[in-house]
Amino acid sequence: LEDAGVVADWAARFVLQRITQFAPGPGRHFVLGLPTGGTPLGMYRRLIDFYKEGRLSFKYVTTFNMDEYVGLPRDHPESYHYYMWNEFFKHVDIDPGNAHVLDGNAADLVAECRRFEDLIAAAGGVHLFIGGIGPDGHIAFNEPGSSLVSRTRVKTLAYDTLEANKRFFGNDISKVPRQALTVGVGTVMDAKEVMILITGVHKSLALAKAVEEGVNHMWTVSAFQQHAQALFVCDEDATLELR
Ligand code: F6R
Repeated sequence: LEDAGVVADWAARFVLQRITQFAPGPGRHFVLGLPTGGTPLGMYRRLIDFYKEGRLSFKYVTTFNMDEYVGLPRDHPESYHYYMWNEFFKHVDIDPGNAHVLDGNAADLVAECRRFEDLIAAAGGVHLFIGGIGPDGHIAFNEPGSSLVSRTRVKTLAYDTLEANKRFFGNDISKVPRQALTVGVGTVMDAKEVMILITGVHKSLALAKAVEEGVNHMWTVSAFQQHAQALFVCDEDATLELR
């Protein structure tokens, strides 16, 4: 697609279409996996528009977010809880009890990851998992080298990730959380459908590795070559390195 704006609009219309087609209702929830980051912001804005226009309701939608930092207070502006509430949840009619974000402050982080997987299973699995990728091909916090069959777990972040994220923490690397909770590649692979949003020239190498080379755990997003229903929604810039 032409640019990031068109990708955002396309992705939002795809979500609208999928939820509408499913016709959620009491006891019949549409289950959506969600990312944070810069890429999906435009999509969230369009989904909020659809809600305000009366075209879409989240009343019978259950969501699961991909990841969360460990040890950041929930109301810290960089926490993914804060991001999701401010950029999306508080603007739509989702039931807060159905909007699941991993708790990076849980006393037992391993149990929290297990609880999250159990909740996904209890919801009947994810219908549509939306994701974004990093320039190194990571999906969620599944950094290069992560197992392609991984499940939700605690990850210690790579030094490069801390470097890349320090701009969000006053450029002070010591303030960047060193650990995160993240769904695994296998968790996302289990979704019936996966939609990955990729925009910008800085993601072009990752897109090429994702689709034009073999499945490789150093580029974790390449795992989706083996998914029956995976869609990469890209802008022109992201396609620069494609053959
Ligand atoms: C988001 C996530 C990451 C981001 C990726 C891209 O929950 O887990 O995979 O999607 O780091 O981030 P942006 O969109 O900011 O370029």
